[in-house]
Amino acid sequence: MSDSQKESAAKAALDYIEPGEVLGVGTGSTVNFFIDGLAAMCGKIDAAVSSSEASTQRLSEIGIRVVDLNASGPLRLYVDGADEATRQKSLIKGGGGALTGEKIIAQCSETFVCILDSSKVVDRLGQFPLPVEVIPMARSMVARELVRLGGMPEWRQDFVTDHGNVILDVHNLDILNPHEMERTLNAIPGVVTVGLFAQRGADVLLVGGEHEVEVLE
Ligand code: 5RP
Repeated sequence: MSDSQKESAAKAALDYIEPGEVLGVGTGSTVNFFIDGLAAMCGKIDAAVSSSEASTQRLSEIGIRVVDLNASGPLRLYVDGADEATRQKSLIKGGGGALTGEKIIAQCSETFVCILDSSKVVDRLGQFPLPVEVIPMARSMVARELVRLGGMPEWRQDFVTDHGNVILDVHNLDILNPHEMERTLNAIPGVVTVGLFAQRGADVLLVGGEHEVEVLE
């Protein structure tokens, strides 16, 4: 994983912005490079809808107005990172724990541009442990269900999501069919959000490489 590759992918996403719009903004170190780029384009966007408290703070620090998704309505563009991506644009997200806000904004956006470095592009998802946000009282029950499905859930320690829930990072899942796996995990009572973004994957991947940014549309 390379910071310069993350940064070049993030900078490439700035070209997708239209002046005066309300922009959806994700979470993570790659997105932080994108926010730095927004700072340099002072006044280009009207406001942002943020996927996490961390990004809200960073956006506010550079003077970008952060608005509620309920007030903004549907968005034209959402920019966010990922932990793994296939060339078919299914993703694993949630390494930073902001998967719920991220999934909601992705669903509300016409175009989801995903920015990442080349080490994260994989043939099959699942090497990165799949984050699953769970209502605290359901933690053990959901963990047992995940074991039944072949996974090895690990309770993320000392971490509470922005929505007051816990995260199970699921190792060892063989995600042959991301759509089906997302549907199956979503159906377990107590699961708030699964970090698989297949039903609503990305529309564009901007993959930072050693020499250039690859665009997968
Ligand atoms: C946060 C996310 C991030 O987009 C993902 O973890 C990638 O993070 P980074 O850009 O720091 O590698 O899903 O919940």
